[in-house]
Amino acid sequence: MKIGILTGGGDCPGLNAVIRAVVRAAKRHDYELLGFKDGWKGILESSYITLDRDAVSGILHRGGTILGTSRTNPLKDDTSKKRLLKNIETLTIDCIIAIGGDDTLGVAARLFELGVNTVGIPKTIDNDLSGTDYTFGFNTAISFVTEALDRLHSTTEAHHRAMVVEVMGRHAGWIATYGGLAGGADIILIPEEPFDIDDVCEVIRRRQRRGRFFSIIVAAEGAFPKAVEGPISRDTVLDAFGHPRLGGVGEFIAKEVEKKTGVETRHVVLGHLQRGGSPTAYDRILGTRFGVKAVDLLLDGNYGRMVALKGDAIVDIPLAEGTKKTKTVNMDMYRLTQIFYG
Ligand code: F6P
Repeated sequence: MKIGILTGGGDCPGLNAVIRAVVRAAKRHDYELLGFKDGWKGILESSYITLDRDAVSGILHRGGTILGTSRTNPLKDDTSKKRLLKNIETLTIDCIIAIGGDDTLGVAARLFELGVNTVGIPKTIDNDLSGTDYTFGFNTAISFVTEALDRLHSTTEAHHRAMVVEVMGRHAGWIATYGGLAGGADIILIPEEPFDIDDVCEVIRRRQRRGRFFSIIVAAEGAFPKAVEGPISRDTVLDAFGHPRLGGVGEFIAKEVEKKTGVETRHVVLGHLQRGGSPTAYDRILGTRFGVKAVDLLLDGNYGRMVALKGDAIVDIPLAEGTKKTKTVNMDMYRLTQIFYG
C-alpha cells in the first residue's frame, strides 16, 4: 500500500509526533509512505519526500512539522481540483492521511465523497474541532499561556498596572479559558460571550477596593464588545479558506480600560509563541496515539474516518462529522472561571 501524508493549516506542537507514529506503525506492514510538502499544495505540485524510519528519527520532541504546512485550498476552483485528483492517480496513492484542522479535514471529507481514500487526524491549538474531546497542541499552548501569565503577574503587580493578554482563538475561547484559569487571570473574555467594557473596568475597581492594585485580563483574539458586530480585525486580508486575520482586541481593551479607570494599562499579544516550541508530554502522547490509530484504520480499510479522543479512548468517527461545526467553550467551565474574577 502507498500512503500519502500531509500537514495543513496552522502548525501545531505534536505534528512531528504524529508523523513519526504513522511512519513507525505503517512500516511494520511494509507500507510505502510519501510525505507531501506544505499540505495540499504538495499534492498539487507533486512535491514530496519519501518517509522511512530514518526520516522520522529524532523528531518526536520538535515543534513545527518536518513536512511544512500551508493554508492551500485545492478545491477552490475546478482546475486545481482536477490537478489534485490527477496527481493522486498518477502517483498511485492508495490512501491519504490528512493532519489538520477544519479546513484541511474538510477537504479530506470532500475528497472521500469524490472516491479518494482519506483518513483524518484532528489538529489545532485552538481545541475547537467537534468530534474530539481534545486536539494535540492545545495542552502545549495553554502551558505556554500559563507561564506567560505567571511572568506577567510579577511585572504588572510591581508597576500597579493592568495588563491585557491577547491569546489565540478565533471562534472559540478554549485557550483563553484554560490558560486564563491556570494562570490566575482576573477576567477572561471569549468570543462565545461578547463583553461589556464597563464590566471589565468594574472588576479592576473591585480589586482596587480590596487593595489589589494590579489586574490581568485575558482576551481571546476573537472576543469582541457587545456594542460591536463581531471580532476585531487589523486588516481585510482573507486566507484561501476565507478566514480573516484577527488581532487588535487586546489593544482596544487596554485603551478603553486606561481611559475609563485611569489605571495605566498595557497589552501583550502572545501570538505565534503559543504555536511554537516543543510539545508537552501530553501532546506527544496524544499525537502518537492518533497516528497509530490512523494506521489501524487503513489496515481495516476504514476510510472517510477521523480519529478522535473520547474520554481516555482513541476512537474513530466519520470525517464529515468531525468537521461539521466549531466546538465552542463548555460554558460551565467558563462560569467556573468567573468565581475567581475580581
Ligand atoms: O490554527 C489556528 C490559529 O492558530 C488561530 O488561533 C489563529 O487565528 C490562526 O491560526 C493564525 O494563523 P496564521 O498563522 O496563518 O496567521
